[in-house]
Parts: sequence; structure tokens; C-alpha cells
Amino acid sequence: MAKKKTTTKKPPEQSPTKNAGKKDTSNGGTKTKTTEDSAQKKSSSKTSQTTKKSSEVKSTSKKKTTTSSLKKTSTTHTPKTTLKQPVKKTTTKKSTPKPAKTDQQTPEQIQEEKERIEAYKKAGTIAKKLKALVKPKIVPGAKLIEIVEFAEKKIIELGGKPGFPVNISINNVAAHYTPPPGDTTEIQDGDIIKFDHGVHIDGYCVDTAFTISLNNDTALKNIVKASEEAVEKAIKKIKHGVTTNILGGVIEETVRKYGFKPIINLQGHRIERWDLHAGKSIPCIALPTGDTMEEGEIYAVEVFVSNGEGEIHAQQSNAQIFQLIPTTRKIPLRTKSSRRILGYIAREFKSLPFSRFQVHQEFPQGSFGLLELIKTNKLEKHNILSEKKGFYVAQTEETILVTKNGCEILT
Ligand code: CO
Repeated sequence: MAKKKTTTKKPPEQSPTKNAGKKDTSNGGTKTKTTEDSAQKKSSSKTSQTTKKSSEVKSTSKKKTTTSSLKKTSTTHTPKTTLKQPVKKTTTKKSTPKPAKTDQQTPEQIQEEKERIEAYKKAGTIAKKLKALVKPKIVPGAKLIEIVEFAEKKIIELGGKPGFPVNISINNVAAHYTPPPGDTTEIQDGDIIKFDHGVHIDGYCVDTAFTISLNNDTALKNIVKASEEAVEKAIKKIKHGVTTNILGGVIEETVRKYGFKPIINLQGHRIERWDLHAGKSIPCIALPTGDTMEEGEIYAVEVFVSNGEGEIHAQQSNAQIFQLIPTTRKIPLRTKSSRRILGYIAREFKSLPFSRFQVHQEFPQGSFGLLELIKTNKLEKHNILSEKKGFYVAQTEETILVTKNGCEILT
């Protein structure tokens, strides 16, 4: 699932590298403070490594100064970011030197770390299998809802759980589309289809996407290849200590070489337990500064390539994907149905995104209950993100584990 940052200005035409950093400061991004605070507390309490803790504390203490470049959050689907991440280069630099973990871990922490990595690897194996099973189903005439239902069931059969609803975004739609209950949309000849999904094992989630083009336009011939190659080249740069702006530079260069634009306001993201967008980001353009990647961290490296403006816009209506807003304030719910749905969401998805369709499968009559949860601000919406109509977007995404000298692709 893509991490959106809010940008009010257009992506730079002429010299993206120079301008991009400035533009980023336009963002507000404080709207999700509550969520972020609680997400941060939660993730801190679960973190077993002392080193990790100290870096999180550091970033917390800096949160007032956040003006950030990359992390503006948006919104939609990434509540947490702004506060969690160090924003200035100086901050990220300070967190770089990190002693070898094994020197300071207790046997319990070592065991916990081993289990964490095993869970991510298991989730990755399931995601890989799922992609292979889904690819042949993406053909003209196939119903989106049937593909989504198949995929979400198959993830469970394979021993995982959906980390977020299966996204099938078509043509100019870049991300966050999943069919509503009763949807009859079919894949058409000429479509460019992004399949993006997550698999989690006990909150440890991988996030991966591929694109299939059924479009024969020669101008679009390499759009999928451009996204795949950009991800592949960015992954080659990853190792402990590298800053994410280096990856952004490689991504932008690769995509532009093909004559396309990377989507400037979508980016790769760090993943932590129960938290798909855990602070650090991977931009899709060259920037002067970035976040420092550290051994043991998990990232979704994702690139969206466009033949249009290189920028997505959030559609304000028709959101299909939601996420629980953690809050201590108890707003009373009027209907029994909404209380039951809220309980189900909290148990089943916790802080991970879910869809109207997933709720509908459990509560076929639950649409009013869901509406009440949205109206009482219990849920955050993940709006559909699109390029302008008529343009096309391709996406590739892999989840990786950062190692000392490189990384391991999990998906
Ligand atoms: Co993602």
C-alpha cells in the first residue's frame, strides 16, 4: 500500500532535484497527531532492541521541529508518519551509528528478534505464492471482486492474514481502490492493472505489488518495466547506513530514462509490527536528504510510474478502505450494529487497514453501522489516489529486510 505525502505544488518539471526539498515543506501534516502518538507508544512498547528504542525516543523529542521533507503524511493511509520520523538530515545522521545488535541483546531479545524475522519471511513466502496465483487471473473479462475475494481467502488458506485489503487500481487510479460490495467491474482490454496486497503474521506485515498491462499502445510499452527496474535498482543500493534519498535518485533517474515520471507524492515506507507506515520513507525522486536505513529494519520499496503529471490526487468520495483511529476518548455509539462492527474491526484488523467489502462479508447488513463509525471519527478514510483521467500509472513494490551489507527481498 502506498504512502502518500501531501504536496500542494506540482512536481518539478525542470530540475526536480533542486526543488523537491523545498516543496515538501508545504505540508501541514499534524492532523493525525493522536493516531501517531498512540501508534508510537505502541510500537515503542513492543520494541525489543534498546538501540531502536533510543532512536525512537530521539525522534519523538524532535517532533516539534518537524517540517519535514518527505514525510508529510497524508492522510490517508498513513496516519502515523509525521511525528515519528526525524525530519531533518541532521537528525537522521545522528541515528546512523549503531552498535552491532548482538552485543547488547539479552537471550530473550535475540529470540524475539529471530521470531520477528521468521514471521516476516513467512509472510513474504505467502505473498510470493499469492502473486503467482493471481497473475493468470488478471485477464479481460475477469471481475475485480472475484479476484479480491479469491486473494483475501487464499492468504488465509496459506497461513497468513491480509495486511490490508487487496488493492486493484486500474489505469489512472494509482492506489487504494478495492471494489465495494456488489461491484461488477470487469477488467477490460487496454487496462493497466496494479495488484497491491499485504500479508501479515501476527502483525508482521509484508507489502508487495505488481502491474499487468493489457495495453498495446507503443508509448506505454515500457511503463511497467520502468517501475520494475526502478525498484530493482533501488534495492541494489540498500544496506545498513544508506540514506533513502540515494534510492530516490536512482528511482527518478531510472524512470525518467524511459520517458516517464515517478509519482512524486507517493513513496516507499518503513514497516513495523501493526504499522504499515512506520515513519521513515523512500522518496521516488532525488532529494538532498533522506532517512537512514538500519540493519534489521523492514521497508516496502515501491515506485509508481506515470505518463501524466507525476502526481496523484485524493478522491474525496467513494473511499473503500478505512483504518481504526486509536483514541482514548469514548464517543458513545447509538446503534448495536456499529458497536459490534467496531469490536470486530478492533479484534480482526487492529491498526491495519480494512475495506468496506471485508466488513460486508462479516456484516452483510452493516453499512449503516460502518457509516456511524465514519461519522463519529472512529475511522480514518484512505481515499482513492489517482492521476488525472486519461493517464496511466504502473506500480511495483517489494518488501525487504535491511542487512549489514545489503538487503534481503522478502516478497
Ligand atoms: Co506500500
